[in-house]
Amino acid sequence: MNDIRPEISAWIEESILPCYEAFDKGHRRDHAQYVITTALHLSEHYDVDREMTAVAAACHDLGLSVCRETHHLESGRIIRELAELRRWFTPAQIETIAQAAEDHRASSKNEPRTIYGKIVAEADRQIIPDVVIRRTIQYGLKNFPGLNKEGNWLRTLEHLEEKYADGGYLRLWIPESANAARLEELRRTIRDKKALRAVFETVYKEEIYKETLPKAKSLLEGETDIIANMANLSALLHQTFRFWWTGFYRVSGEELILGPFQGPLACTRIPYGKGVCGTSWKRRETIVVPDVEQFPGHIACSGESRSEIVVPVWKGDEIIAVLDIDSDKPGTFDGTDRSFLEAVVEFL
Ligand code: SME
Repeated sequence: MNDIRPEISAWIEESILPCYEAFDKGHRRDHAQYVITTALHLSEHYDVDREMTAVAAACHDLGLSVCRETHHLESGRIIRELAELRRWFTPAQIETIAQAAEDHRASSKNEPRTIYGKIVAEADRQIIPDVVIRRTIQYGLKNFPGLNKEGNWLRTLEHLEEKYADGGYLRLWIPESANAARLEELRRTIRDKKALRAVFETVYKEEIYKETLPKAKSLLEGETDIIANMANLSALLHQTFRFWWTGFYRVSGEELILGPFQGPLACTRIPYGKGVCGTSWKRRETIVVPDVEQFPGHIACSGESRSEIVVPVWKGDEIIAVLDIDSDKPGTFDGTDRSFLEAVVEFL
């Protein structure tokens, strides 16, 4: 902001940015600061007044103090009423600044009226490929709860193609923006269906685990009987993820004995140090097996099992059971399953 008059910079710092402290997490001082910096950066490509740009960016969300839904319009109204601005800007300039704030929530249908609106609108959004994909999946999970995983995949694909792919309805207001470069990156992923599916798989799983964790917590917290809790937890995980086999083996002396489970019949006893389960108990750690045929000593309770994860259940520093999950597909489990399942068994 070197080329901005010091009194304007000081006024932004001391009178405007503090207002943001009262807003929600996504709209605090750092957000306003980011929009100012980005807007000034974008303004370098145009013949515009940088002080007007800075003020429009600084004030664009002030209306949040009134109403979230109409905050852009409220910001415009507040800007028109700010007496200080009359010292530095003409009425026409103030009107342009107000309009820029009003237009900052531009959509493809409503183009900002001036370059100032375009600059602030572009500075206010961040098109980050991973975030766009995650938000698309989150939106589907929240708004179409009836869809299964394949349904969610198709919806995700459809939305990304409609909005972000080449020819999609998203409109960039400033072609020189970092958003333009990142959109190109997103488009490359959308074109490469295999890459997109891989991102979808990772994110979808994380989102489902994030939903499942609080469900598991409330399911188990009112009950102290460990068998009842293992029974419900295996049902919850099994139903949610449609695994091949989901259940517990409980430590009893030198062996593990089959506990509550969901899925096909299973072997009842596993000696200490044997199979994936006995090895997890012995090593005192989670074991992820991408291909059961590559795990020496794997115990095949079911010929359908292709990959597996075994997570110890702790009571203090003692292992009292293991959670064993089998998939009929190879490579089902990874670090995401490990960390969420380790967290989930702590509720037992
Ligand atoms: N595969 C396990 C045995 C249990 S069943 O998969 C249900 C193991 O190797 O320990």
